[in-house]
Order: sequence, then structure tokens, then C-alpha cells
Amino acid sequence: MTTLNYDEAVPYYDETRGFRPGVSQRYRDAVRRVAANDSPRALELAIGTGLIGLPFIAAGDDYIGVDVSHGMMQRIAPKLPSSASPSLAQVDITDTLPFAADSFDITHAVRVFHLLHDWRRCISESRRVLKPDGALIIVEMRTPDETASPPPWALVHHKWAEILRGMGIGDDSIRHGNGLTEATLANHIRAIGGRAKIQDLLRYDEFPVSCRTMVERRAKRMFSNDWSLPDRVFTAATRQLQRWLEQDCAFADQAVARRMVFRAVIARF
Ligand SMILES: C[S@@+](CC[C@H](N)C(=O)[O-])C[C@H]1O[C@@H](n2cnc3c(N)ncnc32)[C@H](O)[C@@H]1O
Repeated sequence: MTTLNYDEAVPYYDETRGFRPGVSQRYRDAVRRVAANDSPRALELAIGTGLIGLPFIAAGDDYIGVDVSHGMMQRIAPKLPSSASPSLAQVDITDTLPFAADSFDITHAVRVFHLLHDWRRCISESRRVLKPDGALIIVEMRTPDETASPPPWALVHHKWAEILRGMGIGDDSIRHGNGLTEATLANHIRAIGGRAKIQDLLRYDEFPVSCRTMVERRAKRMFSNDWSLPDRVFTAATRQLQRWLEQDCAFADQAVARRMVFRAVIARF
């Protein structure tokens, strides 16, 4: 079971994690190229508010979305024409999936494996519900060029970590996610008898963000790694971060868009 309750993120999730027009359509095209047939039956693990799944549903694909957060999924239907009726279910994807064996051509999970404790169970369940020629696609957003200099707003996250460390907060509460890498996933898939390849599915540009915007987001507790901080620590750290923005940040209002990539581990069993 995840320790994070995304119901908290519902009001601002789309505003902070949304894509420019066309990005999720291009992702659908990429997924369909991975599938073994022209009309794949697909399961999205952790569909959230539908930022990834909407183009599949709108195109009338045979598509089921599951998520542990009912609140996140409630945001999907209002984005669709009233005639569309998305197939959704509230499911913990690290538990037994409520689907028969050999049901899907594709199972895919975007921006969620880094949050899971029991990601191995999710892989074994995906394997069970996949058809023999099916594929599991696990996607995280990464920077395509590890050597490129980070955008100015990355300073906000560095400063935040420095402030928290100075207040005695351990790295486990500061780090975002479980640190799972594509290599670890691919090695695990091979170790259990599957085939795995790592592939960049598409590149895209995020919306431009400034340090000021990022500080505002931190202050509104929009980052999941802050949800478990004690209120007293969070408030004091926020004050320090705001002081740094006003007094020491040289690029407070310079908005920069980061180039990112949908990096996938594609597994077949
Ligand atoms: C960062 S959001 C990603 C949502 C969507 N895939 C996207 O890319 O916009 C993470 C989602 O994973 C869901 N989630 C986290 N742990 C889960 C679990 N164990 N089972 C099902 N859903 C989970 C959260 O409720 C949230 O909707």
C-alpha cells in the first residue's frame, strides 16, 4: 500500500503536473507502436486525473484505468464528452489486481513506480494479467541529457533540502520517491524470466516555471515528499525559503521550461 494519499493533490494536480497540448496524444501513439496488435486492450495502473489516459479514452480504445485515489479519478469524467463512460476502478496496484489472467495487451504505469514500496508485486500482477504477447510499460519522466545544466528553479529544491537538513530532517524525508532506476527495474524483470528494454518514448518541454512559482508551490505543500513533514518544521522551513527567495535568489522571476523525456522500461514475459 502507498503511504501517500493523492486526494490531497486533487485541487492542484493538473495545474502543476499537466502537459502542453499534444504530449499525451503522442504518448498514446508511442504505446500503440509497442502493442502487438492494432486495437490493444490496455490497463493503466495509477491513472490519476487522466492526464495520460484521456486520449486513449477519447479515441474509444478498450481502456481501463485504476488508481487508489477516488478523488483523483473523479476528475476524469468532467474532461470527457458526456457520451463517454470511462472504465475506472479504485484499486491498490501493489495488491492483487481484480482482473483475470491473460486479459490485456498492454499494462502501463506513468509517474508512479517511484512512489511504490512493493513495486515487485505490481510487476508480478501485471505479468499475470498480460496476454502472452503483451507488454508492461513503466514510465518515469527524466531529463534526456544528464549533463545539461539544471533550470534556475532547481535551486529552490536544493535550497529546500539544505534548509531541512539544517533542521535535522533525514534524507528519507527529503528525497522524492524511492530512487528506483530503469536499470534496477530491467534487472529485476530479467531475473524473473522476462525480457526488458529501456526506451525513450518521446521528448517534450514542460511549462516554464520560475523560482518564485516553485517557492509558492512548496509553500502550498504541493510536493508529495513534504506531506509527511511535521507542520511546525514545514512552516519554519517555508519561512526560510521565502527569505532566501527575496534576499539571495538571483533569478527569482526568470521562468524556464525544462526539456524532459518519457523514459520507459518495456517488459515482455
Ligand atoms: C504522480 S501521480 C501520476 C498519475 C498519472 N499516472 C499521471 O501521470 O498523471 C501518482 C498516482 O499514483 C496513484 N497511486 C500511488 N500509489 C498507488 C497504489 N499503490 N495503487 C494505486 N494507485 C496509486 C496516486 O493516487 C496518484 O493518482
